Amino acid sequence: MTAAPFCSVRGLSVRYGQEAALKSVNLDLIEGERLAIIGESGSGKTTLGRTLAGLLPDRARVEGSISWPALGHAPLPGRDFGLVLQDPGTSLNPVLTIGEQIAESARQHLGLSWRQALAHAEELLERVRLPQPTKAMRAFPHQLSGGQRQRVSIAAAIAAKPALLIADEATSALDVVVQAEIVKLLDGLVREEGMTLLFITHDIALASGFVDRVAVFRAGELLEAGPVRSVLSSPADAYTAALIVSHRDLSTPPLIAEVAP
Ligand SMILES: Nc1ncnc2c1ncn2[C@@H]1O[C@H](COP(=O)(O)OP(=O)(O)OP(=O)(O)O)[C@@H](O)[C@H]1O
Ligand SMILES: [Mg+2]
Repeated sequence: MTAAPFCSVRGLSVRYGQEAALKSVNLDLIEGERLAIIGESGSGKTTLGRTLAGLLPDRARVEGSISWPALGHAPLPGRDFGLVLQDPGTSLNPVLTIGEQIAESARQHLGLSWRQALAHAEELLERVRLPQPTKAMRAFPHQLSGGQRQRVSIAAAIAAKPALLIADEATSALDVVVQAEIVKLLDGLVREEGMTLLFITHDIALASGFVDRVAVFRAGELLEAGPVRSVLSSPADAYTAALIVSHRDLSTPPLIAEVAP
């Protein structure tokens, strides 16, 4: 790929205690791409996302380098990247209305007045296809369904028009139908805004339906990274092959063909 890296990770190792959660990882994130980080539980996916976001706990020990050529500085939460997590219940503030929490990010990072920020928040609720956005502005998170809350988290994450969206198991807590709707929404928004997407998931089948590249992790090591079609059709690592075989849908040629853009 010829595009400049948006983020370049070199020799990245992270340890919380004795055990390394990431081991000498080298990985480029290309501007405007959708990159899936795949791997079983404990493989270091969240640690990678948190390291890029500068959100590791203090006791984590980090070696190696991360550079952001396109930004020229470490990304600022909310402004340069948005985060969408598995449980929107933890990322949304239960005592603020939906409108207030989205507007706050827009006010802070886009320099809008409160009134303008509220108008922007309502537009965002329309963009994430939340039903009855005007009414939802005054609702509290607990009054919405899980899927609706995830739409709100996405609206909050993109409120300041960040260049990067990090989605960490953003659809894992949702049922299959809602999961597909949220993936479709993320895919559309990322394309429209030209955002770079880091889509962290244990579900290779879900990711491979819409990302450009996949990076496969196991026990803190990056096993392989490449375009989704080549990784699916000819995985370089036996572990990736096993992951693909475990999703029977992916190991049959017709569905691999469907992955084509
Ligand atoms: N805050 C922490 N303190 C101590 N150890 C941690 C911490 N966070 C993660 N780890 C350890 O680091 C390793 C990688 O964890 P990480 O959460 O990055 O994996 P993951 O791939 O995101 O897993 P999952 O799919 O379950 O979310 C695991 O062994 C985990 O126990
Ligand atoms: Mg995780």
